[in-house]
Amino acid sequence: MRQAGRFNARLMDELRPHVKPGVKTATIDKLVHDFTVDHGHIPACLGYPGESTPFPKSCCISVNDVVCHGIPGQNELRPGDIVNVDLTSIVDGWHGDQSETFLVGGREAVAEDSIKIVQCAFDCLYLAIDAIYPGCTVSVIGQTIVSYVSENFGYGVVDKYVGHGIGQKFHQRPNIPHVPTRQSRQERLHPGMCFTIEPMINGGSPESMCDRKDGWTVRTIDRQVSAQFEHTILMTEQGPEILTSTQHGPEPGHIF
Ligand code: MF3
Ligand code: CO
Ligand code: CO
Repeated sequence: MRQAGRFNARLMDELRPHVKPGVKTATIDKLVHDFTVDHGHIPACLGYPGESTPFPKSCCISVNDVVCHGIPGQNELRPGDIVNVDLTSIVDGWHGDQSETFLVGGREAVAEDSIKIVQCAFDCLYLAIDAIYPGCTVSVIGQTIVSYVSENFGYGVVDKYVGHGIGQKFHQRPNIPHVPTRQSRQERLHPGMCFTIEPMINGGSPESMCDRKDGWTVRTIDRQVSAQFEHTILMTEQGPEILTSTQHGPEPGHIF
């Protein structure tokens, strides 16, 4: 899992310079596909089974009001967009999964409201990582995120899509919701477990709708923007270890 996380993080650093105005999201996807395959690994998203149709590309790229599962295509990134790139690689049978939201054209190009939502999603991820400890309940994550967001912002914390256990399977038990639930109050994060935390924060309503035509793209119902960050985490006897830390990405405490 450490190797899978390390490779996945390297892939994120590899595509980082390409997330800029004028670049087609399909171009970023091709980079993801080729870099992964050239290193002998597998893009987990490609052909991943969905409710109606398998995912057609090698990563998810979700622009502005797309909450998650955006399909890379011929659309070009524009200054002022916020774009989440979600990468999952299979390395020797084990999965690494992470995402970041980028400010296209830099902070000068992006609306203050959008930057605040990106910052909030980033801070939610690291606050949750800071809050968990060996043997804690899964609900510590949702509790931490919901308290922070409700005390400081009017944003919607998405509850329909969740983090997940991860290992030789992409998505496995337990579910890691970003709001507290009855189930998450009963499950615990024991040493040796690997899982993702991947909060999605909407500018307005937490509700979303899946595109009926492509079967994947999830958008906010009010068309407000949505931001997300994700890491794969190992719980150790000493506490959480982030397996997908990048060399060049925003570090804990980063101000966008
Ligand atoms: N990477 C997403 C997650 O964090 C899942 C994407 S599934 C796909 O769980 F099929 F859309 F790629
Ligand atoms: Co992911
Ligand atoms: Co995930």
